[in-house]
Amino acid sequence: MKKRVYIKTYGCQMNERESESLAAVLGDRGYEIIDDEHSADIILLNTCSVREQAEAKAIGKSNLLSRGKNNGKIIGIVGCMAQNLGEKLFQQSPHTRLVVGPNSIEKIPEYLDQLMENKNNPIIDIETHMIGNQFAARHDEKKVKPSMFVSIMQGCNMRCAYCIVPKTRGPECYRPMETIIDEIQWLAEYGAKEITLLGQIVNHYGNRQMPNVNDKSPFVQLLEKIQTIKDIQRIRFMSPHPNGFRMDLIDAYRDLSKLCPHVHLPLQSGSNKILRAMGRPYTSEQFLSIVAALREKVPNISISTDVIVGFPGETNEDFQMTCNLFEAVKFDMAFVFKYSIRPGTIAEQLEDQISKEEKEERNQILLKKVEHYSQKYNETLVGLKKEILVEGVARRGQQQFEGRTPEYKKVIFLGDENCIGRFVDVKIERSTTSTLLGKLI
Ligand code: 5AD
Ligand code: SF4
Repeated sequence: MKKRVYIKTYGCQMNERESESLAAVLGDRGYEIIDDEHSADIILLNTCSVREQAEAKAIGKSNLLSRGKNNGKIIGIVGCMAQNLGEKLFQQSPHTRLVVGPNSIEKIPEYLDQLMENKNNPIIDIETHMIGNQFAARHDEKKVKPSMFVSIMQGCNMRCAYCIVPKTRGPECYRPMETIIDEIQWLAEYGAKEITLLGQIVNHYGNRQMPNVNDKSPFVQLLEKIQTIKDIQRIRFMSPHPNGFRMDLIDAYRDLSKLCPHVHLPLQSGSNKILRAMGRPYTSEQFLSIVAALREKVPNISISTDVIVGFPGETNEDFQMTCNLFEAVKFDMAFVFKYSIRPGTIAEQLEDQISKEEKEERNQILLKKVEHYSQKYNETLVGLKKEILVEGVARRGQQQFEGRTPEYKKVIFLGDENCIGRFVDVKIERSTTSTLLGKLI
């Protein structure tokens, strides 16, 4: 009988994408991927390390799995936390038999075969291999959805003082452009209509390895190539870095009809002093000028961001500068994170850590601002006709379907199964901070 594998994914889109590839290669190897952890023979947790809380969640889960009726199951901890904690995981989560870092994820089928032979020899692989193209491009054709992720690079060469990613994922490696294009063409054949390119810093794609052509960076060249793929009608990417967000990319928003009018551009702080301490090589003024240039080319562009509150040394004045920047930009969505000390990072050594209470207070203040501007932005869409790519049934069920506008706003509307995977026009009738309600027209 086929061994059944349940994969639970934590963390970013990159992890989600890697879990998809992993599921597909495990399927090739004769494993069955299931959605129910209770009937699984093997449970793989694809984990995240970006904040302490993400690790605590995965460790809690693995410990829960180690108890009672799960006895006898093979438990594997893979991904960023596996890379970060390595051997220690065998003690912290005693039933764990497999610890594999994100760069060795493609070897998991081989390791599971070995564990099926002999469960008593736990396996650890936290080497930093380059993930092969075949693995990176692998999807299960039965699971191609209207909107799909495509990973274009791995790793990160920046050294943000707070960030564990360079440690867990290693230096930047770029996939050859042709293989990315082949993958997208294949996805289009199986029904994908929208592609989101993924990478730690997507606009660094090809840096110093692929030439600029007509002053266009390799990343913009890639976008131009995707623009020519017939059945792909929307292109998105996550996340760019303000550093290297140049005019060629800003112009792309004007010139490439398929590039959606939304950018998720991480700010991290509105204080130049804190940006410097974070090792983010731009100023708040430079950030504002990217925003202004984008808005000049695409007046209604939706702009979202990531921001960290309570980085060591952040005074009330520094925090106020972040608030001011939020007011100046009016992000229509933002993820606000409380700074979390990560082992082995530069900021771990910094004095002047901010108290938990202070971080919480700043978090609440900023969240209120985000809500206010999200609500305001969403209100501007009420009454408008919007094109939605229908992704599936909405959680609330009852003939309710959901999809996104080009600006990445989720819309819920009454429809039928036939509309899944299609572009439909809806009139936006109501809005909340996170969702829009619409009617098919
Ligand atoms: N503490 C809090 N937030 C962090 N991020 C990255 N590292 C940390 C940390 N140590 C946030 C950044 C990044 C997002 C993915 O997670 O805002 O953009
Ligand atoms: Fe988490 Fe970062 Fe790893 Fe993604 S790359 S899983 S966000 S630590």
